[in-house]
Amino acid sequence: MQEQVTVLYTAGDIRDRVRALGAGITREYAGRQPVLISVLKGGAMFHADLLRAIDLHASVDFMSISAYGEGSSGVVRIMKDLDRDIGGRDVIVVEDIVDTGLTLTYLLSALRARDPASLEVCALLDKSVRRITPIDIRYRGFDCPDQFVLGYGLDFDEIYRNLPFIVAVKDVGALSRNPAAFVSLLGPDGNAYR
Ligand code: IMP
Repeated sequence: MQEQVTVLYTAGDIRDRVRALGAGITREYAGRQPVLISVLKGGAMFHADLLRAIDLHASVDFMSISAYGEGSSGVVRIMKDLDRDIGGRDVIVVEDIVDTGLTLTYLLSALRARDPASLEVCALLDKSVRRITPIDIRYRGFDCPDQFVLGYGLDFDEIYRNLPFIVAVKDVGALSRNPAAFVSLLGPDGNAYR
């Protein structure tokens, strides 16, 4: 595992940061009932943990999007829409990672059109150096280096979402040539699991 990846955030680092984000949201939304929107699939794990770190009557909803075609125009298709109307609600969009920001910009404009009382973003990872469209990320877990990352919801070709920590991949070419070769990641590796 050591040759292939670097552990960026251990399970403990993530737990501490998620608790701090939850405490901030609890404080700033006191007396309100925010809706936490999970953007599937990558954001689901963070969403579930964040929710448990919030001491408010928060509700949840889920959205699934997929990019149109190849490349990153940011135009997405809504595969699964929210179950409930968000008009007049305090909405927090919970994202795994904001990279260029194109996807989230598109999503936020679609949600803003539904007239929420407020609309904020909580992202676990912010690859800020890659940003193309500026986005105001109200709650941010970590400022992430410009590297391909895996784990805690983030995948390569649908695998490695279940790692409880986040790693940076040293050679993305090697990963894409043989994703299964990284399977040893799932073996215990010292402190990353704690
Ligand atoms: P953006 O539109 O460029 O901001 O893309 C954001 C989406 O790209 C995220 O929600 C992820 O699904 C995916 N993504 C960006 N960087 C990574 C990464 O390092 N690992 C895994 N997925 C990523």
